[in-house]
Amino acid sequence: MYNALSNNLVVVSNRGAYVFQENNGKINTIRTVSGLASAVEPVLLLNGGMWITWGGRLEENNGLSQGIRLTVPARSSAALPYQVQEVLLTEEEYNLYYHGFANSCLWPLSHQMLDKCSFDKEFWLAYRQVNHKFARVTAQATKNKDFLWVHDYHLTLLPQLVKRYHCQAQVNFFWHIPFPPLDIYRALPWGRQLLFGLLGSDFIAFHTQNYVNNFLACVSHYFPDKYYQKKDEMWFEQRKIKVQALPIGINWHRFEKLAAEPKVRAQAEKIRQSLGAEFVLLGIDRLDYTKGILERMKALEIFLAQNPAYRGRVTLLQVAVPSRDDLGTYKKLKEEVEGTVSKINGFYDREYQALPIRYLNRSLNEQELVAHYLAADVLLVTALRDGLNLIAKEFIASRLDNHGVLVLSSFAGAAEELKEALIVNPYHLADIATQIKNALEMPLIEQAQRLKILRHKVKTHDLRWWWQHNLGAFSPSQVSLPGIRKVLPGQAISRTANVKL
Ligand code: G6P
Repeated sequence: MYNALSNNLVVVSNRGAYVFQENNGKINTIRTVSGLASAVEPVLLLNGGMWITWGGRLEENNGLSQGIRLTVPARSSAALPYQVQEVLLTEEEYNLYYHGFANSCLWPLSHQMLDKCSFDKEFWLAYRQVNHKFARVTAQATKNKDFLWVHDYHLTLLPQLVKRYHCQAQVNFFWHIPFPPLDIYRALPWGRQLLFGLLGSDFIAFHTQNYVNNFLACVSHYFPDKYYQKKDEMWFEQRKIKVQALPIGINWHRFEKLAAEPKVRAQAEKIRQSLGAEFVLLGIDRLDYTKGILERMKALEIFLAQNPAYRGRVTLLQVAVPSRDDLGTYKKLKEEVEGTVSKINGFYDREYQALPIRYLNRSLNEQELVAHYLAADVLLVTALRDGLNLIAKEFIASRLDNHGVLVLSSFAGAAEELKEALIVNPYHLADIATQIKNALEMPLIEQAQRLKILRHKVKTHDLRWWWQHNLGAFSPSQVSLPGIRKVLPGQAISRTANVKL
């Protein structure tokens, strides 16, 4: 397939496409639904390889147990099997590394929400420990010529650490969430170590050029004498590292195909009828404070207050997918969202017409997703900050008739590509209210003009394009460095950075 895959492909991420469950001494694999799994698993199914991941199980004691290795899918004629290597976490690691450092520090930091960050040393130590654990398992499971594809903010130290465990594999890293500007990033007490870990990669990709620029500014701040940059290549300690913006794509044909299926269209019709509304606004998000769900509902309230003619005729269908619900911030958000739904519905439900908000607190499978995309007139993506937002792309792919409007936050990574959407400032509730009105009143001809361009963009930059550029754009990292000393006179680029990981 791609050059890079002539060797074994080894994907490493916190979560994979399966969780493991033990039942009467037997391990069962259960499929999970996630953006990462749908984007990455097809490559493994086409090429074989291995996925190293935490399988959702906790080990009793803090041992060095490596977890099990299974072959999945168990029996399938349609796909190549691949192996899943489990990395077991202790309960303490799970709490301090996953809930702690990953989701209560790096997640809000990357989304520029410093007030939600906990800079707790215990979290950091557990994060380091778990990254070491993943690195050990990865080094043991890979051969030198393998190709490592590491994903996301849970495993930033891994690219550097695998080398300590004598793994010479080439390392590509994809960072799936926003990368914050230096002025935010430098609030992280362990910012230097984290970057150093990441810089063990040979290739680092982000969704947008903005995130690339933020990352490079951080590297240059923390390692001014070890870094040199030229276009999308940088040198760090005499190694060339390619850094690129590669927005993730979707499986275009799958969404187009589902959107054409009679049973999916019938399901869409059923959803639409059950809402009893003339106009349907749709929101589909993980229940996360970065998604701007509360703000969207408050904007709807402003819209209804300003436009009485729409009352009883417009419904916002909000699907809130449960997420990280062991964390206090997420529990609190759920209560606030549910309180806001009932407050707005209670106030506007006077004539027993269409409710302003219909709220679902569950996840949807692909078919249900597409049925929801087809049932709506307008998709509201009003995230306060979002790495990219695949929902926006899936909506576009599903709208085969070129009708429908996408309202897109200027703070979602997708806004860098999808400029023909109605771009909105998600912090400015009156702006969202205005764009809701504009979307509902947009002539069909304008909807089609915009969607045509959007569909072309999403189709040409689909999932396959993303794989090709992530896996095929790889080039050897050990190159000579002619000219670098001339560019940076007097700088000791051969000294290794003294960073404790
Ligand atoms: C979001 C991010 C992904 C990340 C995932 C983790 O979807 O966009 O980059 O991997 O969250 O979710 P989890 O449920 O594992 O915390």
